[in-house]
Amino acid sequence: MKLTSYLQWQKLQHPVLTDHQTELWLRYAPSDNPDISGNKLLKLKYQLELALQQKYQGLLTFGGAFSNHLVATAAAAAKNNLKSIGIVRGEDADLNNPTLAICQSYGMQLILVSRAYYQSRHLSETIQQLNNQFPGYLHIPEGGTCEAAVRGVSELDMRNTPNGPASLLICAVGSGGTIAGLIHGAESTAVLGIAVVKDLSLPEKIKQFLPTSRLWPEWQLIQAVHQPRYGRFDQELWQFCQSFADQKVQLEPIYTGKALYSVFELIKSGVILKGSRLSFFHTGGLQALKGLAYRGLINPITDSEQ
Ligand SMILES: Cc1ncc(COP(=O)(O)O)c(C=O)c1O
Repeated sequence: MKLTSYLQWQKLQHPVLTDHQTELWLRYAPSDNPDISGNKLLKLKYQLELALQQKYQGLLTFGGAFSNHLVATAAAAAKNNLKSIGIVRGEDADLNNPTLAICQSYGMQLILVSRAYYQSRHLSETIQQLNNQFPGYLHIPEGGTCEAAVRGVSELDMRNTPNGPASLLICAVGSGGTIAGLIHGAESTAVLGIAVVKDLSLPEKIKQFLPTSRLWPEWQLIQAVHQPRYGRFDQELWQFCQSFADQKVQLEPIYTGKALYSVFELIKSGVILKGSRLSFFHTGGLQALKGLAYRGLINPITDSEQ
């Protein structure tokens, strides 16, 4: 698929939006591979560039057994003729689950580690030990979040919808790199992040990418209003995700669906004002649907839904 033909903006239709005279635009990032779509390619762009320029032989990164980021890193590495290693949380992770199967199909070498070892991934001894064991691999943090990722995301124009400037830029927040990138690119437009993880240190993590030497647009982080714990969702949330299928909009209930649900609640309660024009980053992550179906948490995904 040519990048120029890629859907960049889609205006969502919904009675709540009509009733509250609110425009909601989904913002898609260009990608020719669904496994590296949404925020993923933007987050990896400069890390890939560095790996290629400095002639690393591969990328080494970290993630859970159903991590979107692991899949994206495996796919991006394969596309750029780099090797890849995924350090996976949990010795009991199932190598046959759809996420880890996709990673392996891209040639990623998976190493299952204990949760205790995984927790130690930031320690210098662990980093050194990984460097000794796998020399020539560029380390990419869990979730891909780092300065380079923030820079990549900042390049996505979230502000100029086909109907004119957005009044609010919105994204789901996990490790914080994506919202930091949106804030960098927002100029004076306000930014709202919907946290889908319970992490009290998240505001500080985001602030570390926003030097105090510059004035930033207004930004706010709220906790997802429904099923606020990471990975948790119920049938109501899943039905909400599916309710956009007739507009050919696919959402998963862990990040994008959960964040969009919160946006609708904020619109209904009047916190988001009538007349707003919202720009919502569709951050991808659709591979996760296969993992949810594999675990019996949603109905099996048909090929036409992928
Ligand atoms: C689909 C999806 N949306 C949103 C996010 C949140 O991005 P971040 O970790 O940069 O906050 C992630 C995690 O990378 C994700 O996989």
